[in-house]
Amino acid sequence: MLVDTKEMFKKAYEGGYAVGAFNVNNMEIIQGIMEACNELNAPVILQISKGAREYAHPLYLTKLIEAAIEQYPHIPVAMHLDHGPDFELAKASVDDGYSSVMIDASHDPYEDNVRRTKEVVDYAHSKGVVVEAELGQLIGEQFDAGEGGAMGEGIYTDPDQAVEFVERTDCDSLAVAIGTSHGAYKFTKGEPQLDFERLEKITEKLPNFPLVLHGASTVIPEFVALCNEYGGDLPNAKGVPEDMISRAAKLGVCKVNIDTDLRLAMTGTIRKELVDNPSNFDPRKYLGPARTAIKDMVKHKLEILGNVNRI
Ligand code: G3H
Ligand code: 13P
Ligand code: ZN
Repeated sequence: MLVDTKEMFKKAYEGGYAVGAFNVNNMEIIQGIMEACNELNAPVILQISKGAREYAHPLYLTKLIEAAIEQYPHIPVAMHLDHGPDFELAKASVDDGYSSVMIDASHDPYEDNVRRTKEVVDYAHSKGVVVEAELGQLIGEQFDAGEGGAMGEGIYTDPDQAVEFVERTDCDSLAVAIGTSHGAYKFTKGEPQLDFERLEKITEKLPNFPLVLHGASTVIPEFVALCNEYGGDLPNAKGVPEDMISRAAKLGVCKVNIDTDLRLAMTGTIRKELVDNPSNFDPRKYLGPARTAIKDMVKHKLEILGNVNRI
């Protein structure tokens, strides 16, 4: 059933676990995630980025998710816009039937972030849709391109400012910057480290308020190795260790975003299938195993998040 994230997050907060938010771009990814959630009785957030909408066409993704919901009516599914860059796309997603949207104005000056977030909140709430906002800037590729203010260093979320931001915008959840980053090359300057002290402060100051962790893929070594063994070139890829994800889930983080791990599972498996079966040219013979790899990876992820038997 299509749901917003309110009830999901309330239960996750109280239970000290997090709901997985998985980026989806095509049918096999959606099917692999849903099979995993079905086997482990897990609610789920299927999230669609601007790039995903452009790749697949928004209509296809909406229809695929509708099909998944029809196939598994007992699974609570939130359909969410990931990193909405502006009011127009957030509005379009609300109008397309998403139950949750993110407005990401985190790279704007603070007052602009407040204003642009509030504008989306006002529209989304009037249509019964919840809003995720972001305060602070993640390190890494998304903000290294010179578009925003961070320029590769990232700016961690200020706990006092987070309280004011939530009050002024009335957003329903908040993505925080505590050291994670997007993609397969996290913690390039040393050992994995997250600012848990900061996370605890934010949680203390915003009790019962759901927080979101972006850039939370583990960059699972098994799949990096598989990519590299079969012709890939991903040297020194590194992600957030699993114990850190579990710890964050007990500190107010109710939504954990995962895209890179899906990409690696899918790409590694397809690489292997193509090399092992050079005479095959039936896409189902490599997309099928890729879908199974996604299912198994997501099942493992759900265990790490504590999001098992939560329906
Ligand atoms: O945070 C970004 C997500 O991984 C989505 O990536 O914009 O390439 O679809 P994308
Ligand atoms: P990863 O790149 O770590 O999977 O993060 C995904 C994400 O934050 C999507 O919004
Ligand atoms: Zn993100």
